[in-house]
Amino acid sequence: MEKISGVDVQEHEKSKRILNIRLNNEIIEKLIFPFNKFDITALELKPFTRFTIAKSLDDLTDNKLSKLINSIIRDRSKGCLIIGPKNISSNINAEFLVKFSTAVSHLIGIPNHDNMTGKYYARFVVKHEDSSDSYLRKAYRNMDLHTDGTYVKEVTDWLLMTKIDEQNVQGGATAMLHLDDWEHCHELYNDPIGRQNFTWGSPKSKKVGYKVEHPVFSSDENGKPIISYIDQFPEPKNMEQGIFLQKLSDTLEESKNKIITKLPVGYSIIANNYFWLHGRQPFVENQNLLRELLRIRGKFSQN
Ligand SMILES: [Fe+2]
Repeated sequence: MEKISGVDVQEHEKSKRILNIRLNNEIIEKLIFPFNKFDITALELKPFTRFTIAKSLDDLTDNKLSKLINSIIRDRSKGCLIIGPKNISSNINAEFLVKFSTAVSHLIGIPNHDNMTGKYYARFVVKHEDSSDSYLRKAYRNMDLHTDGTYVKEVTDWLLMTKIDEQNVQGGATAMLHLDDWEHCHELYNDPIGRQNFTWGSPKSKKVGYKVEHPVFSSDENGKPIISYIDQFPEPKNMEQGIFLQKLSDTLEESKNKIITKLPVGYSIIANNYFWLHGRQPFVENQNLLRELLRIRGKFSQN
């Protein structure tokens, strides 16, 4: 990998498939000025400004960062990276992280409209108490391994999650599984039920007023398995589909090859959404638990 000045690239402690990218103070400080040109409202309302800040970030690395990120995310043998500042200074606040996440995501492609918030991104908080209708905010339950965008019409090539804040947190680690590391991939990919169309709906909070149909497994352009799956939203049409989904869920959760990692505050994890599944372990109960994440999901840019 080509060396980039001010950018540290290392293999993740637990997986060769995940790269840790850390930006030094000089790059972070040089971002402050271009980031100050636009407030969050401008970024929300004028899509081209997002590319402007993305370009500012890329220019600070002689346009090598975008090449690096894209080469990792599109590489089947890797497909995942964690990126953030080497040192967390007072500059790294929520506003900075929204802008930084916007910049990084626009080096990869274009965000999908997030129906939950009506914006190109969503910030959401997990707390002790919750009354929502999906597992997203249920702190004390395991969020099972899944991919994103299973119940929307738009394609979801990648996803980015940034940890904006965390208070009184124990547990809640991120779980990641690469399809090629999953012990039952071959077996379930070759099961004809996995290629049937399933119906995918979603609860009210997702604000998606339709259902979609697609199989769990398909093949990429090289004939390798790709998956679109989440436990909560497929509506099995019959016993075969129900049993298939149960087996899929059990064998994913039982996998010994899950990577369990704590994403530090100020860091973003970006994963290819076709062959990486993600989830979250339960938090340890605490009245004052607070964790805020930002997510952006989108498509690869097309030239
Ligand atoms: Fe997700």
